[in-house]
Amino acid sequence: MSFQIAIDGPAGAGKSTVAKEVARRLNYVYVDTGAMYRAMGLYLASKGADGGPEEAVEAVCGGADIRLTCEDAGQKVWLNGEDVTESIRTEKAGMLASSTSAFSAVRKKLTQLQKELARTQDVVMDGRDIGTSVLPDAPLKIYLTASVATRARRRFLELEEKGQAADLNEIEEDIRRRDEQDITRKLSPLRQAEDAVMVDSSQMTAEEVVERILELKKEREA
Ligand code: DC
Repeated sequence: MSFQIAIDGPAGAGKSTVAKEVARRLNYVYVDTGAMYRAMGLYLASKGADGGPEEAVEAVCGGADIRLTCEDAGQKVWLNGEDVTESIRTEKAGMLASSTSAFSAVRKKLTQLQKELARTQDVVMDGRDIGTSVLPDAPLKIYLTASVATRARRRFLELEEKGQAADLNEIEEDIRRRDEQDITRKLSPLRQAEDAVMVDSSQMTAEEVVERILELKKEREA
């Protein structure tokens, strides 16, 4: 039987940093579901279908072959054979992912793919609806959050480090808008699963969060 750790939470709470490290220490596969929604958003935009309607999205989204691979340098994201690891990381791609993730055809296709990935291997999967919808039976669920100001500052520093121009106020505004979209959408909105443990990382380092999750995993197994 495979073991699953589900990590949900709003944009910029540090999910991917923490999930990646937890997976590395446990030798589990890390599945970044946000990356899948980002790749799908780019695909729909390239076909002019990102604004809907649902029928157009349904007709088009079957043509997106999205894969995640693990390489020495980290996880790579592929869209129809093209490496989109870098191009999905812009704020624009994040907003596009957030808006197109509300289409039922998109959620259906990606949820199916994610369930399949977790069926046969131990995974740490992060996203918005993993504990509530993708892996409702996951033995460990974390809801990782942090204040809007903390999340905006982290994103700002991340972009600055990559040499990308960024405006803190704009990032904060984007985060608020994305939270609003993710929380209020009809299908699988972002929310804490009843059996998820809430971890507020505002005053914690990534290492502290990782240790907390590993501790919780030990408790679950005991
Ligand atoms: O985690 P991220 O910022 O890469 O995610 C981008 C968007 O994708 C997010 O704003 C909402 C959507 N998403 C989703 O709806 N469900 C998931 N499991 C993961 C992401």
